[in-house]
Amino acid sequence: MTKILITGGAGFIGSAVIRQFINDTDHSVINVDKLTYAGNLQSLASVSDDPRYCFEHVDICDAAEVARVFREHQPDAVMHLAAESHVDRSISGPAAFIQTNIVGTYTLLEAAREYWNGLDAARKTAFRFHHISTDEVYGSLDETGFFTEDTAYEPNSPYSASKASSDHLVRAWHHTYGLPVLTTNCSNNYGPYHFPEKLIPLVILNAVNGKPLPIYGKGDNIRDWLYVDDHARALRLVLERGTPGETYNIGGWNEKTNLEVVQSICAILDDLHPQGAPHNRHITYVTDRPGHDKRYAIDASKIARDLGWKPQENFESGLRKTVAWYLANDAWVQGVTSGEYQHWLQKNYTNRSAA
Ligand code: NAD
Ligand code: TYD
Repeated sequence: MTKILITGGAGFIGSAVIRQFINDTDHSVINVDKLTYAGNLQSLASVSDDPRYCFEHVDICDAAEVARVFREHQPDAVMHLAAESHVDRSISGPAAFIQTNIVGTYTLLEAAREYWNGLDAARKTAFRFHHISTDEVYGSLDETGFFTEDTAYEPNSPYSASKASSDHLVRAWHHTYGLPVLTTNCSNNYGPYHFPEKLIPLVILNAVNGKPLPIYGKGDNIRDWLYVDDHARALRLVLERGTPGETYNIGGWNEKTNLEVVQSICAILDDLHPQGAPHNRHITYVTDRPGHDKRYAIDASKIARDLGWKPQENFESGLRKTVAWYLANDAWVQGVTSGEYQHWLQKNYTNRSAA
């Protein structure tokens, strides 16, 4: 059994990784999460009573607390997912992105290095620091071509620039100090438990509620979509079998324009939730995002060739599962939309201030 410290485990992708580790393996998990607006412990309700799961309410920028977590839990590996992750928020307020994505990654790297240096030879060799990043670090593509692991970094948004900075720090900690790091750069994820500020969950919930479906610009920007559980499986494989110092691109070979994505969601809803059909009558074109990247497309052949990974879902099957999940999980949706999902935080802060 391996003990894995996961940062950002209350987020969309981190919670999918934790659910897989608890349900499908005998590993144990320490979830280190600050519980920002994006952190939701209700996404972990199905596994949080398992004795192999443990939660640490910690900000990765807090060096003393991060060091304590390493000391107390003695993990065998780190999977670093904690981040500010929404491009639009990075445009209106970049400070939190610089703090968590850059300073937080630096703080975690230093704590990991100090801890790793103190391990015995066998554990030191086996230790891994897996940094989870995005294809947005590579910038934007025109109509043709793909991002490979060798594509030069050209980040355009405050979000992607902060993630690119964190990738560079991770690379330097390997090159300079020998820390056994792995980096993965993945395309856009979608699936259950996705916070409804991102395109797919926002459109599903707005369409169900008869609200406008906002499409930035002409809706012709292209993203490469991957079902979140496929990403989680890829991350587990890279952690287990990836070569330290290497980067692996992860993508679904599923390029779609935003308009195609929204039309597909509406068509599935017309079928699964015919009240209010046709749902695409709510499509509304709105002002474009400043600096909106035109196209992302991942060449995922390295991870397929070297580690044998391939996605289990195609876009049609994954999107249908996702829409069906949102329709069937009203309690989770209501928890998010009402703010009740931050109950844990409220309760614990009330307890602390009362003590
Ligand atoms: P998310 O926004 O859903 O979750 C982020 C989590 O990090 C939340 O639980 C939040 O509380 C936590 N967090 C934020 N700041 C923190 C801090 N200072 N200390 C501790 N915890 C903190 O993000 P996500 O979509 O699950 O993305 C996870 C990772 O994967 C990110 O690093 C992101 O850059 C990367 N990624 C995301 C996508 C995507 O499509 N969502 C694609 C590729 C890569
Ligand atoms: P998003 O889900 O925010 O992910 P990212 O910006 O990291 O790719 O956006 C996906 C695409 O959808 C992106 O091209 C912006 C666009 N978009 C809209 O057209 N309308 C929306 O309301 C949102 C949130 C995004």
